[in-house]
Amino acid sequence: MAPPVPARAVFGNGTAHSRDQHRCLAAAYDPVTLPRLAAAGVAPGWHCLEIGAGGGSIARWLADRVAPGGSVLATDRDIRDLVPGPNLEVAALDVARDPLPEEAYDLVVARLVLQHVPSRDAVLHRLVRALRPGGVLQIDEIDASYEPPLLTPDAATEELYVRFLRAKAAALRAAGGDPHWGRRVPSALRAAGLTAIDVHLNIDVRHAEDPGLGLQSNHTRNLRGRLVEQGMTDEDLDRVRQLMRDPSFRAASSVFYSVQGRRPGKGHR
Ligand SMILES: C[S@@+](CC[C@H](N)C(=O)[O-])C[C@H]1O[C@@H](n2cnc3c(N)ncnc32)[C@H](O)[C@@H]1O
Repeated sequence: MAPPVPARAVFGNGTAHSRDQHRCLAAAYDPVTLPRLAAAGVAPGWHCLEIGAGGGSIARWLADRVAPGGSVLATDRDIRDLVPGPNLEVAALDVARDPLPEEAYDLVVARLVLQHVPSRDAVLHRLVRALRPGGVLQIDEIDASYEPPLLTPDAATEELYVRFLRAKAAALRAAGGDPHWGRRVPSALRAAGLTAIDVHLNIDVRHAEDPGLGLQSNHTRNLRGRLVEQGMTDEDLDRVRQLMRDPSFRAASSVFYSVQGRRPGKGHR
């Protein structure tokens, strides 16, 4: 039987758009996320939980890394793009509603998920309780308040790109999201009771071949209905895609935060 499909997801799964989005996410952000997890010490025997695992690229890497003896549970409110494998279980879990086991994991990771969850601060407290004492929480999020166009053919296309970014931010906010939440993650992890907060920032130049721009292009289609509600027309969205294919176009990426903290106490392997 097909898994149930949650209503009103900003980014739903189980479509050609979602699979393209997951490919772009992995290409754009795994080069930052995975070395951070390696630096946290993920090793054979670790038990790991991923929240909002999307297409599963992080979970697959973890499953390989924790063998032998470890395990990975990849969860999402919509698991249609997740496939189980060796050391890798998949389960439907809406992190805003469903209970989590307590003191069960050496690592909990969530990338680009909690910005979409209105109760994100309360969720963080529950993620901390899911960690064993000494366990690591890694939250990777963007702050999209800084991602200006840098080289465009003319002022009209520059204005169009800025209008697209504003419409996207407004659409995410209208659904209860916070596209600037990345900057709040370090203090939110401290407020949730974690120690040894470690903050890493990443910013890049976007160009036609860059997966980060591929992701923006995906959003023109994936979020089309919501962007139209925010005043963009299909013609505008065509022109944004055309601009992003222009080999001379350059824009700054949003700021990507990768933040780790540890649950106080001994007991970690
Ligand atoms: C932008 S995608 C990120 C996917 C993956 N974490 C990555 O970075 O490649 C957001 C994911 O969060 C999931 N999601 C959104 N709200 C959720 C919730 N309340 N509980 C669990 N997953 C959620 C969506 O279904 C989607 O798969």
